Amino acid sequence: MADLAAAWTAIEHAPQATLAALFAAEPDRLSRFVVEESGIRFDFSKTHLDAGLTSSFVALANAAGLERARDALFAGEAVNVTEGRAAEHSAERGQGAPDSVAHARGFHARMRALIDAIEADALGPIRHVLHVGIGGSALGPDLMIDALGRDAGRYDVAIVSNVDGAAMEAVFRRFDPAATLLVVASKTFSTTETMLNAESALTWMAESGVDDPYGQVIALTANPDKAVEWGVDETRVLPFSESVGGRYSLWSSIGFPIALALGWDEFENLLEGAAAMDRHFRFTPLERNAPVLAAFVDLYYAVVRRAETRAVFAYDERLRLLPSYLQQLEMESNGKGVTVDGVPVDRPTAPITWGGVGSDCQHAVFQLLHQGTHLVPVEFVAAIEPGDALDDAHHRTLLINAFAQGAALMTGKANDDPARAYPGDRPSTTILLDSVDPVRLGGLIAFYEHRVFTNATILGINPFDQFGVELGKEIARSIESDGTDRFDPSTRALIARAFA
Ligand code: F6P
Repeated sequence: MADLAAAWTAIEHAPQATLAALFAAEPDRLSRFVVEESGIRFDFSKTHLDAGLTSSFVALANAAGLERARDALFAGEAVNVTEGRAAEHSAERGQGAPDSVAHARGFHARMRALIDAIEADALGPIRHVLHVGIGGSALGPDLMIDALGRDAGRYDVAIVSNVDGAAMEAVFRRFDPAATLLVVASKTFSTTETMLNAESALTWMAESGVDDPYGQVIALTANPDKAVEWGVDETRVLPFSESVGGRYSLWSSIGFPIALALGWDEFENLLEGAAAMDRHFRFTPLERNAPVLAAFVDLYYAVVRRAETRAVFAYDERLRLLPSYLQQLEMESNGKGVTVDGVPVDRPTAPITWGGVGSDCQHAVFQLLHQGTHLVPVEFVAAIEPGDALDDAHHRTLLINAFAQGAALMTGKANDDPARAYPGDRPSTTILLDSVDPVRLGGLIAFYEHRVFTNATILGINPFDQFGVELGKEIARSIESDGTDRFDPSTRALIARAFA
């Protein structure tokens, strides 16, 4: 504890030079703060990390037991202390306790066999896939299929999460019920929105004349008994382990629509890309470790400079869903107020993650980033290979804009007219992928997972529970079952007005 406090004190009292001064003082900045791993370039040089601060953060990580925690994570120990279980998403990609890896392989084999059967039309002439799930049971598949599967031409996949019936209706208008596979994805198999959407899909199929709607249903869940009880044939239930958290689950059977849309080989490439990042995280010294350096940057701005948000801009249309994927991963994991020992934290935890797509956002929100009063560390994510066949000018313009924004934030520009001056010295990180492909995206998402874990370990919080989401669900249930008497006047009046 004393080591931890001393390490924080050193960081909080470190001299704060400008980015320009850091570049001038450290000729080796690029070799120190750029990490190339598995076809991804992580450039942290435009942040305020310097050699001294990095050493202090390494001391902090050591005091917080990061390497020990990392070993425990990969050994399948119960690192999710509040729920008394392991966090074994990396076992899904072959990196973890041998038993867990073997277990995951068995589940993957089952998944693959079912995909082979579907491709052989064993469930009928399937062309459409309606995946219902929410949160971690939707965001990962949605991101990956949107990024990689649009031109795969195998199946038309729709992912519906919102309980708003308009979302389901839009798919019903588009899909042929006789050629639709209904995929019900829910770790618990009890989430209200998902189960209601699944029921409506079954009704739509039945009312459209499908003889045996249940014959076209697949369940992806860690609660297989519940799926069978609900009516899914046991042979079409694809289980995954309870120790894989919802927002870490795209590697498990929750990734079924990804494998179906892209093909099994591409799904394996995704796993392999993530596994390479796992190895990087496990075996690279902290000061050259991409997720660890990223966490140092996060902690520096959130804790020392009190930045309340961080922004992620995907300068690639294929990655337009990345910011919303990261919102769940980062905020549901690290938006916590107590430590693993149940004591209130004494420093800010996860900042608010937000963002969008470049260059669109330049013409909407970047004003605040360049001249506003909030400090917002920015992350640019881009790819060297274009995703289109149009004139090179498109991709070139996209990339040049991304790089120009980072340079503008950092250098700023003086002007006698204060309204036209740019203060500069604003930090950014650039993540440049060789291409948007399964291997790189696997690596990218694993990088974010390990960055979240590193942040959490140093802050002493548990990134693997999410009790904060329960109270609202509980109140919604009790409004349905017991009425509104025990609620406040505002809530009672809203309900009365809406349902009068
Ligand atoms: O309510 C939050 C949450 O539990 C997320 O953590 C999870 O990803 C999502 O709901 C969906 O849960 P399930 O997969 O059990 O339906």
